[in-house]
Amino acid sequence: MKIGILTSGGDCPGLNAVIRGAVLKGVRVHDAEFVGIRNGWRGLVEGEYVKLDRHSVRGLSRQGGTILGSSRTNPFEGEHGGPENIQKHLDEQGIDAVIAIGGEGTLTAARRLTDAGLHIIGVPKTIDNDLAATDYSFGFDTAVEIATEAIDRLRTTADSHGRCMVVEVMGRHVGWIALHSGMAGGAHAILIPEQPESIEQICEWVESVRDRGRAPVIVVSEGFLLSGMEEAHSHKGLDAFNRPRLGGISELIAPEIEARTGIESRATVLGHTQRGGAPSAYDRVLATRFGMAAIDAIYAKEWGSMVALNGTDLEIVSIEEATGGLKTVPRERYEEAAVLFG
Ligand code: F6P
Repeated sequence: MKIGILTSGGDCPGLNAVIRGAVLKGVRVHDAEFVGIRNGWRGLVEGEYVKLDRHSVRGLSRQGGTILGSSRTNPFEGEHGGPENIQKHLDEQGIDAVIAIGGEGTLTAARRLTDAGLHIIGVPKTIDNDLAATDYSFGFDTAVEIATEAIDRLRTTADSHGRCMVVEVMGRHVGWIALHSGMAGGAHAILIPEQPESIEQICEWVESVRDRGRAPVIVVSEGFLLSGMEEAHSHKGLDAFNRPRLGGISELIAPEIEARTGIESRATVLGHTQRGGAPSAYDRVLATRFGMAAIDAIYAKEWGSMVALNGTDLEIVSIEEATGGLKTVPRERYEEAAVLFG
């Protein structure tokens, strides 16, 4: 059996560990052959491949990014896209099955390709942890660690100057990174996309912290909506992938806090630092297990399925189920954290 592996969409710590886990299990247990497809679906369409064997994956689990490169190319778009073309390229390379590691867009495309008869298994990837049907995705734990360390560092400088710090973390649609890093870092307020808040409420929390003689620290997801100030969010337009341009909500909130409370305030956007560098130990283990489970799914011919974490167990779920909706932060989890605000 010859297995192709590709990584698609935004990168994420742990991608290389998936590749290593899949290759080592495939080679050792099944004597499988592997080929790496460069830059997501684009590599398949443009014929860019790299050799993958037990030597080329040595030491990979601790390496950030993806050795295969990534892109957001949609396999259904362009004159060389579509299931027939993709199958033709796979046949030319003698590839029997593909492991597609990616987020919602990648998995949705993978499902449509399997509907057309292609042999694909999905591996969920997102630092945002927003994919339904898996309790955790690798990359999330690393992102939370990085954000927590940043919050700890910002706190000491906030304390030195008596300033309010507004720390912006990733989370386009959901607030998991903000919720976990905010709780770990002892934030005085956590602002997430699922729960719009008004600037008045935020200032109330800030003032109550100041009144106790402390420097307020606020963690905000990039996708948070400030209620009553929605128009301020819409001016940034769409990016190259037709998604609303994000980044900078903290730069809107910090000056408002300063103007309304008189507390000197600073915004820090953590951005892609949260996706960079080596994966945490937890993510290395989860990603390695995902890679090995993808091999099991291939040999069980579970085309159109995805590996997922349920509690501490791995399971195989249909990609359809997995892409059926975002895993948002439940209201109870937000309220649990909100007891600590202010
Ligand atoms: O989807 C994961 C994510 O990290 C989002 O939180 C963020 O909005 C997005 O990727 C940014 O992706 P990029 O800058 O690579 O387009």
